[in-house]
Amino acid sequence: MGKNLKVGIAGLGTVGAATARILIEKSGHLLARSGCNFELTSVCARDRSKDRGIDLSEFNWHDDPVALAASPDIDIFVELIGGEDGPALDAINAALDNGKHVVTANKALVATHGEMLAKKAESKNLAIGYESAVAGGIPVINAIRDSLAGNKVSRIFGILNGTCNYILTRMEKDRLSFADALTEAQSLGYAEADPTFDVAGNDTAHKLAILTSLAFGTKINLDAVYIEGIENITPEDIASAARLGYAIKLLGVALETDSGIEQRVHPTLVLRSALIAQVSGVTNAVAIDGDEVGEVLLVGAGAGGDATASAVIGDLIGIGFGQVRPVFGRPGSSMNPHVQARLRAHEGGYFIRLNVHDHPGAFAAIAARMAEQDISLEHIVQHHEDHDADSGRQSVTIITHETMEEHVRVALSAIREDGHIDNEPQMIRIER
Ligand code: HSE
Repeated sequence: MGKNLKVGIAGLGTVGAATARILIEKSGHLLARSGCNFELTSVCARDRSKDRGIDLSEFNWHDDPVALAASPDIDIFVELIGGEDGPALDAINAALDNGKHVVTANKALVATHGEMLAKKAESKNLAIGYESAVAGGIPVINAIRDSLAGNKVSRIFGILNGTCNYILTRMEKDRLSFADALTEAQSLGYAEADPTFDVAGNDTAHKLAILTSLAFGTKINLDAVYIEGIENITPEDIASAARLGYAIKLLGVALETDSGIEQRVHPTLVLRSALIAQVSGVTNAVAIDGDEVGEVLLVGAGAGGDATASAVIGDLIGIGFGQVRPVFGRPGSSMNPHVQARLRAHEGGYFIRLNVHDHPGAFAAIAARMAEQDISLEHIVQHHEDHDADSGRQSVTIITHETMEEHVRVALSAIREDGHIDNEPQMIRIER
């Protein structure tokens, strides 16, 4: 008989129910792997009668997650409620105040209150496990915090939102509309309660802000993340990019520049031959560039109940082994300040798609405006299949060589003023 650790779960959605199932069905396996008997004692959810595929009737049910978190019936509090403030934060504070370890999948909460909670947990020698908060089942937190700790990281980037990757994949492969693909992702249980958080890039930003702190040893700074979502990506953008050898992914990217740390979330062109371009559907991928190890790419299920619960269980096992480490890889009191890189100073290649009035000189004038800003073009193409005979418009796609974002913005605004296009140009950054 191993050490007994009593577990309470607040929030019984897809991840909570899967965590409860694993604790119940695989208790022997978990005991063999950890030497601990993880005993689920208590749960908390709004709806007691919902069918969750497992019988939870024998456990102590709480209406209030704070009461569960403070209860003497538990040693570890598992927070799967969600939301950056409110009951989730109150309950985690109550758990720490009452000497309980915490495991959470709540990226918004960790990104917003992580430093404060880390300091509190560390002062009481308690653990906060949040492996499940970033990239679902992929063990990326442990990889950066422990296994890659000997590296100086220069860049970390990845596909961090399963819903967006699912939508973009369905739009590319099956020509689904954005709306239909989103409905599918929701029905499969990938999307947040409010899917705007997924498609507008906020969910990716939460995860990126956490990874940035771990990778660069800095305080989490969610406000410094530049965010663009995928709502304005059209099937035409995806097809134009594909013709030029690129796929479109929603990436979170963090890197160290001369002026500070750049954190950005936006639709991004990646070469179709690159490994990350092959990552499709709900799958997530995180690439880490370390000075010793080179590039590491971690790929796996980024959303879904069972995959995310796998990471929750991994954190429980770590606590079972007595692993209480600094939450963000260094003590909360010695996290470095976050120095934000200069705005719009991003240097890279750009994909630009313009709806051009099809008349003589338009093409040349566009190229001239680009040249004025010292922007060197890798491709400028117009595809006859994109010609709209009724409106006389022609889709023109441009790929630039490395240039400054500000220069692209100035050139596009001049092209607009010249009257060659009549709607907003599409501009998508390229990550190489
Ligand atoms: N809504 C998230 C996603 C779930 O689609 O990736 C995991 O955080």
